[in-house]
Amino acid sequence: MSYYHIKHLEEYFQVYRKSVRDPEIFWEEIAEEHFLWRKRWDKVLNWDFNKPEVKWFEGAQLNITENCIDRHLAAKGDKTAILFEPNDPNEVAVHITYNELYERVNRFANVLKSKGIGKGDRVCIYLPMIPELAVAVLACARIGAIHSVVFAGFSATALSTRINDAECKMVITSDGSFRGAKTIDLKGIVDEALETCPSIETVLVAKRINSEINMKADRDEWLQPLLDKASPEGEAEIMNAEDPLFILYTSGSTGQPKGMVHTTGGYMVYTAYTFKNVFQYNDGDVYWCTADIGWITGHSYIVYGPLANGATTVMFEGVPTYPHWGRFWQVIEKHKVNQFYTAPTAIRALAKEPLSHVEGHDLSSLKVLGTVGEPINEEAWHWYNDNIGKMRSPIVDTWWQTETGGIMISPIPFATPTIPTFATLPMPGIQPCLMDENGEEIKGNPAQGRLCVKFPWPSMARTIWGNHQRYKETYFSAYDQKYFTGDGALRDQTGYYRITGRVDDVIIVSGHNLGTAPIEDAINEHQAVAESAIVGFPHDVKGNALYGYVILKETGEDRNQENLRKEINQLITERIGPIAKLDKIQFTSGLPKTRSGKIMRRILRKIASKDTSNLGDTSTLLNPEVVQEIMDNVL
Ligand code: WTA
Repeated sequence: MSYYHIKHLEEYFQVYRKSVRDPEIFWEEIAEEHFLWRKRWDKVLNWDFNKPEVKWFEGAQLNITENCIDRHLAAKGDKTAILFEPNDPNEVAVHITYNELYERVNRFANVLKSKGIGKGDRVCIYLPMIPELAVAVLACARIGAIHSVVFAGFSATALSTRINDAECKMVITSDGSFRGAKTIDLKGIVDEALETCPSIETVLVAKRINSEINMKADRDEWLQPLLDKASPEGEAEIMNAEDPLFILYTSGSTGQPKGMVHTTGGYMVYTAYTFKNVFQYNDGDVYWCTADIGWITGHSYIVYGPLANGATTVMFEGVPTYPHWGRFWQVIEKHKVNQFYTAPTAIRALAKEPLSHVEGHDLSSLKVLGTVGEPINEEAWHWYNDNIGKMRSPIVDTWWQTETGGIMISPIPFATPTIPTFATLPMPGIQPCLMDENGEEIKGNPAQGRLCVKFPWPSMARTIWGNHQRYKETYFSAYDQKYFTGDGALRDQTGYYRITGRVDDVIIVSGHNLGTAPIEDAINEHQAVAESAIVGFPHDVKGNALYGYVILKETGEDRNQENLRKEINQLITERIGPIAKLDKIQFTSGLPKTRSGKIMRRILRKIASKDTSNLGDTSTLLNPEVVQEIMDNVL
């Protein structure tokens, strides 16, 4: 039996038991047999959740790009590594073979070096879903630079915050991006961001939309001429297993975004392992994950996990709605996609459109369907199962986080029986548990509580960039000796997990994590606003949408409310990005507060969700009368 590729349920249970009984032996065998190391580790695992400190494969040396590219060249040099499907279906798709990827990554790596980027330097990548994005990520990894990819839908302010937090030396961007029928002026956003980013020395600009842009002398350079001149050969930098590979920002419930730091060896082993099992990828398959590389899903399951397995991974530049609602299905048919991985919000949006967009496309290549990012509701699950998978392709509902680096709870297709809305069973090596209000682990089934993990796994984030204390407080302080996920979950009689949603002030809108505090900060910048509170409410496509309660200053009270709403959303777009815009804004004279001055979000959430049957005891509030006012004026 191979631990690396699980094919049956009994095998899963055997492997799982082994991974819990002898975690070090388990991961050591996988690491040894399936990866290329320049030097072997001295110790498989060192950990202490109190500090917290976790080290996997300490002492080992490697370069992840040798695992993702070089080692496949002999047998698979001409196989397509990255299959680029452009925004415009009339533009030809680009097949980048492993041989070509090797050359492109080396050229890019050599350009980075020529611009003074070396091991440990931070490089910000702000690019659309074009091949340069994947190549830039790998080029950083090749020379040991730490990439910080910022999703190219974030605003200039959000971009500069992230650049400054990591003190990046370089930004890699493009003139602009295509998004359906629209174009976005990415370089303009970068220029604006860089007005407040002193650490940036160089900006490399890929040409994508051929727009007129400003090039700042001594800072900005076109990428392609540099690539053309660079050598297609290059030695990979030898990295320690625990050297940082990348930083990726995720929203916290309070404060600045958190720069989660992932390291090299464990991240590689775990993302490759989970990719293989969760998607049951076999050589020759074409795998497509529709996420953006700006999110963790793209890092782990478009770039590193698939390439470490020598897979063909599709990179899609476009959107599901352009030029029509059948685009996803058209791409699946065109490239004979075997594994398809997307977000529940996309499924819900597609399910609202007539089935004629699906019909007429040959989806018979599909073998496995996946979802990620938020709970999938039963209706969407069935629509996906019936109309896309034709009840033949198992759906893997994969639960995980930016912080976990890889998939934590998921069915293994053709092995684990699936049930709608259940992420089912932990991956080998993952030891989840549920905690009660008193901080005790709830043993036995069924159970419901807060989801924690009680043993380290190879791809967990090791720290928050520049703020280890915050890492400790956020993830290791709520419960003794446990990693706290921020999610609630239940476990059924058979031990299957179902994720019920966030239990903190993070709201997931269309699969994007949004912290309430930064949005409130943006709103409060408006000169007419005195105070605000944001909550989520159920939305049939986005999963959750944002509802804002806003108290105006006296001077702002006679302003036109529609205009104010527009201005508030404009401010949010500028500070964070359009994804954080509010669906509803209710102006109110007060917010329900406890006597210690804490906003009672629970009450606001219920009112926004139109679920006021059981508001609980409001008499202890500082200002109980405001609850009635808010209910009377709910939108
Ligand atoms: C939520 C995305 C239910 C969860 C990989 C988690 C899910 C947060 C699922 C992390 C799922 C992700 N079912 N909820 N299958 N997958 N989530 O960091 O609340 O963008 O904590 O990572 O998304 O979001 P992130």
